[in-house]
Amino acid sequence: MKRRSFIGKVAGITAVVAGVLAATGFLKQFYPFISGRKHSIRIGNLHDYPVGTFTLIKDHNLFVYRDHEGVRALSAVCTHLGCILEKGTEGFVCPCHGTTYDDEGKVLSGPAPRNLVWYKVSRSQDGKLVIHMNHPVKPAYKYNIS
Ligand code: FES
Repeated sequence: MKRRSFIGKVAGITAVVAGVLAATGFLKQFYPFISGRKHSIRIGNLHDYPVGTFTLIKDHNLFVYRDHEGVRALSAVCTHLGCILEKGTEGFVCPCHGTTYDDEGKVLSGPAPRNLVWYKVSRSQDGKLVIHMNHPVKPAYKYNIS
């Protein structure tokens, strides 16, 4: 095999592997079973979440927002290639390629192609908050606690 041909094949295989990894990372946010994540996640008590703040739950790549009216859950996974977002002074910032999102998860600047995903929130019978990872909701959704 000629050197040029070998390098071309290695580059092609590398591109395919990178594409598969990127697609898997992206799909994880919509299909939690790909990563082995549970569909419903118990995240503790309401008072574990300070009013008026986004709290990152690292184990589940989620931000939980609580205000005086209710609780919301937002994916912390960038819709570009799946990096975990950081909370900025306003909105969220991706440390990998710089996408910025507002506090509603809307893309402000690329390269991410889509807004962040919000998830349904409820409470279990024992009062613990539950995030339903298989149930995306509209950004305006809020689990009412009053
Ligand atoms: S993974 Fe977030 S901008 Fe690329």
